[in-house]
Amino acid sequence: MNGSGVINFSAGPSKLPEKVMEKANSELLNYRGTGHSVLEMSHRSAEFSQIIHEAESTLRELVGIPANYHVLFLQGGGSGQFSAIPLNLLQPGKTADYIVTGTWSAKAAKEAEKYGKVHRVIADVEKHVGVPCTTKWTTNPDAAYLHYCDNETIHGIEFPFVPESDGPPIVCDMSSNFLSRPIDVTKFGLIYAGAQKNIGCAGVTVVIVRDDLVGHALKECPTILNYKEQAACNSLYNTPPSYSIYIMGLVLQWVKEQGGVAAMERKSAAKSELIYDTIRRSNGFYVCPIEDKFQSRMNITFRIGSGKCTDELEKRFVQEAGKVGMKQLKGHRSIGGIRVSCYNAIHLEEVQVLVNFMQAFQRENTHLFHEC
Ligand SMILES: Cc1ncc(COP(=O)(O)O)c(C=O)c1O
Repeated sequence: MNGSGVINFSAGPSKLPEKVMEKANSELLNYRGTGHSVLEMSHRSAEFSQIIHEAESTLRELVGIPANYHVLFLQGGGSGQFSAIPLNLLQPGKTADYIVTGTWSAKAAKEAEKYGKVHRVIADVEKHVGVPCTTKWTTNPDAAYLHYCDNETIHGIEFPFVPESDGPPIVCDMSSNFLSRPIDVTKFGLIYAGAQKNIGCAGVTVVIVRDDLVGHALKECPTILNYKEQAACNSLYNTPPSYSIYIMGLVLQWVKEQGGVAAMERKSAAKSELIYDTIRRSNGFYVCPIEDKFQSRMNITFRIGSGKCTDELEKRFVQEAGKVGMKQLKGHRSIGGIRVSCYNAIHLEEVQVLVNFMQAFQRENTHLFHEC
């Protein structure tokens, strides 16, 4: 906890590690003896140059990014990449394959349609509850790329595997689970992630892209979204989100001190298991709509019962949790229910507080659950 007694379970922007906040606070007015703040620093200065280079090298070390991949720090969020990806990779006459498993991959596919032909490799479903079996996928070996979202933040659906590709490079949105488990970068053509969940604050988006995929942008591609232009000037084509890059650098350093990505994976498994176990043992009071093997470790979604009192119980749950300091537990407005976001900065002890609350709430509201 951050000393305020508040536990922030927000889906993003989300809780930052206390140590990062303290460090940023101590350096806010006078960055390491320079006499000025990172907020006031030229992005061409030697100090900022060091900040951005250190962020990149720590990221390369943590993730194991090979030398033939560029690391770009861009603006426009994950949504900016929904446009940048087809603008850079979808050549005229080609089709891009999209695996749609929730709101974010659906948005990515819709945006790509503005620039070229998109094929959805799985049939549209009314309700997303997991990843449909790969035998039902209709992938195209000639596609420009195969796009998927590793963790659907709204539904709470996470891929337990990297899809196999029969040729096209794999493009992955890791906005909400980046650095929460080790990855083999060589399986991917491109990985992107907005920083505001696991790796920093809003404003910067990490793009890791293999060098053979750079340099084929459509002529309409805006320069700031063009991977070749950005790679050529180390993400400094225009004024970058310098403070967000600085915060990201502090978070990356913190992840390293905690034992790296493998330690984050162990911690995420323990936190999410604590909540899913509470759901499973609740005799139907709490219900997770997502199929077991696709239940997200980052965004745990559940409903309270399934009767006519569900809305009332969920409203009460959010209100009462709020009164004891647990914030941002309301599910996304498009699907309702409860959502607990457990990114890297959330402690196991904080999840334990929530689980104790869930158990007490169930005891106190069982009568209402049974009456409805
Ligand atoms: C998985 C995923 N992709 C993309 C986005 C869009 O990110 P942004 O709001 O930074 O554009 C989000 C936002 O929450 C997300 O969760």
